[in-house]
Amino acid sequence: MKFMVVTALSFLASTCVARKCGNTEVPDALLQETARMKSMSTLKTLNTASSYSTRTQKVKLYIHNVYIDRTAEGGYISNEDMQKQFQVLNEHYASTGIYFDLRRTIHTQNGTWAISDKDSEMELEMKKSLRKGDYGDMNLYLRPLQGWLGWCTFPGDFEVGSDGYWKDGCDVLQSSIPGGTAVPYNEGKTAVHEIGHWLGLLHTFQGGCDGGDMIDDTPAEGTPTDGCPEGKDTCTGVAYPGLDPIHNFMDYSDDACLTQFTPGQTVRIYQTWDRYRAPAKA
Ligand SMILES: *[C@@H]1O[C@H](CO)[C@@H](O)[C@H](O)[C@H]1NC(C)=O
Ligand SMILES: [Zn+2]
Repeated sequence: MKFMVVTALSFLASTCVARKCGNTEVPDALLQETARMKSMSTLKTLNTASSYSTRTQKVKLYIHNVYIDRTAEGGYISNEDMQKQFQVLNEHYASTGIYFDLRRTIHTQNGTWAISDKDSEMELEMKKSLRKGDYGDMNLYLRPLQGWLGWCTFPGDFEVGSDGYWKDGCDVLQSSIPGGTAVPYNEGKTAVHEIGHWLGLLHTFQGGCDGGDMIDDTPAEGTPTDGCPEGKDTCTGVAYPGLDPIHNFMDYSDDACLTQFTPGQTVRIYQTWDRYRAPAKA
């Protein structure tokens, strides 16, 4: 009897914890632009990489905590918790030159908004009410998402005031913050991963071995990674050099396993910034 209970629990644990990010489908317009950016960066890869490697970019950051009630189960986190998430973002984006400037932490109690799903009317309503800044500013909504670790909007051509413009930002499970309860995704790296999408990065396993993330220095990867399996190599043979990039922030590995963006991803971040985010500042 005891054995059965334990088995049932471990089965639940192993099926429920796989990283679940909402950004598995990439909009066609962004795919086309990404292909164009890739062709530009390969023409003069070395040149481009070196000019981007010294670049920096400030991103204003607004962190929202949208909660049901003032309990941990209700999704509430403190200002200090939000500060910790902010620090972890800057720590892990340091290699890219992107740095966040925390402007405000904002608490909003609203149970309907707190659990609103991706692309729902309620999500849009929440963001129309809460979103701060312009298209170059990051709004991070930490809240008790139902069944997701997070999602972000990919960059696109949205008119100011359109639904796509209001929805812009990232939604992340509040318990994935550093020291949160979403083990093994509780070092704040879900926000790092999700904001990567907001900056134009695709999953390292996007499209499998022959699809790819359109970044030259991330090895081909056939499947999302679960855990931290050193030596994982899903795309083998001369056409696919290198092991799977299981330590890359844009894979699905456990938080402790995620440690790097590549120089090619840094180039893509700035290409995307110049194409979509910076013009909003004009
Ligand atoms: C909470 O959400 C509901 C449903 O969208 C909305 O009607 C209401 O105005 C919100 N309350 C606050 C205090 O913002
Ligand atoms: Zn993702």
